[in-house]
Amino acid sequence: MSSMTLSSQASQNLHFSVMLNEVLSSLHLHKDGIYVDGTFGVGGYSRAILQQASCTVLGIDRDPQAVKLGHVLEQENSHFKMIYGRFSQMKELLESQGIKVVDGIALDLGVSSPQLDQKERGFSFRFEGPLDMRMGQEGMTAAEVVNYYSEVQLSDIIFNYGEERYARRIARAIIKARAEEVINTTLQLANIVRSVVPKSRDGIDPATRTFQGLRIYINRELEELSEGLKAAEALLAPGGRLVVVCFHSLEDRIVKDFFRKKSQAPKHASRHLPMLPTLSNPTLKILTAKPLQATPEEISVNPRSRSAKLRVAEKLENASQEQGKLPI
Ligand SMILES: C[S@@+](CC[C@H](N)C(=O)[O-])C[C@H]1O[C@@H](n2cnc3c(N)ncnc32)[C@H](O)[C@@H]1O
Repeated sequence: MSSMTLSSQASQNLHFSVMLNEVLSSLHLHKDGIYVDGTFGVGGYSRAILQQASCTVLGIDRDPQAVKLGHVLEQENSHFKMIYGRFSQMKELLESQGIKVVDGIALDLGVSSPQLDQKERGFSFRFEGPLDMRMGQEGMTAAEVVNYYSEVQLSDIIFNYGEERYARRIARAIIKARAEEVINTTLQLANIVRSVVPKSRDGIDPATRTFQGLRIYINRELEELSEGLKAAEALLAPGGRLVVVCFHSLEDRIVKDFFRKKSQAPKHASRHLPMLPTLSNPTLKILTAKPLQATPEEISVNPRSRSAKLRVAEKLENASQEQGKLPI
């Protein structure tokens, strides 16, 4: 399989799709296969998959702007289909296209470069923009959460999803600041956080973790991931691969635990009790005992890839499509 070099990504003016070569080889692409790119973004994975194999690709994204880009690719390549929606719903979304099983699924979690770089999306503390942070168009904005949630709720969100040890201090500062004026913009929030969180030696902006926490909460990213993994497992054909690229420990833990749970043989609780094989038969085989990480070469051209962790699991040949059903 020919690999796509970083310089060829750059020369084709592609957005830097994180760990692209590793994703392509992990998917184990084959002719006439059906693959799902569950986080289409700007389509870096989808385009590369279509270049490497004569197969069908279905792109999914919850962001209407990404879906527009997907429609452009549909015009260019009849083996591609773009679907608007969340990957937690991929089973229903694919069924609506008449597809019940697929040969591989890739999930590249988090936000895309255009989402981060467009100040009006409100994801970045680097530019002034409305405090929005929604990947799709539904649900609460970050401004609504920041201005209406209680101190305890804000502290919990920032602590649990941002893994920020100064969460209480930040929540208190938000409550104080919003009593003076409504917090409507990214820089207003970033400056409130910066005023109470000490600068770290590694140069990471003190607002980073607060923004991460709010974004994960607003977009229900961890719930999406848990549901998405279940849907992916159900959709994969025997031998099909699930490839997930994570960017922080909260996501990676969910993937690791799911893979481990689904790859373990059932525990025999008691020798006096019969086994219930249909309840917990393993359905996946883990192909990455340790997660793969980006090469130093990739990190040097795309620093965002530094925190990426890629895990792969394969659907077992004998996994029952009826897993989880109690024997009657
Ligand atoms: C990191 S980018 C993917 C970049 C992509 N691999 C590429 O090469 O262009 C993540 C994308 O996933 C989308 N996304 C995140 N969570 C999603 C979800 N639960 N369902 C569908 N799309 C989601 C975001 O809107 C964003 O466009």
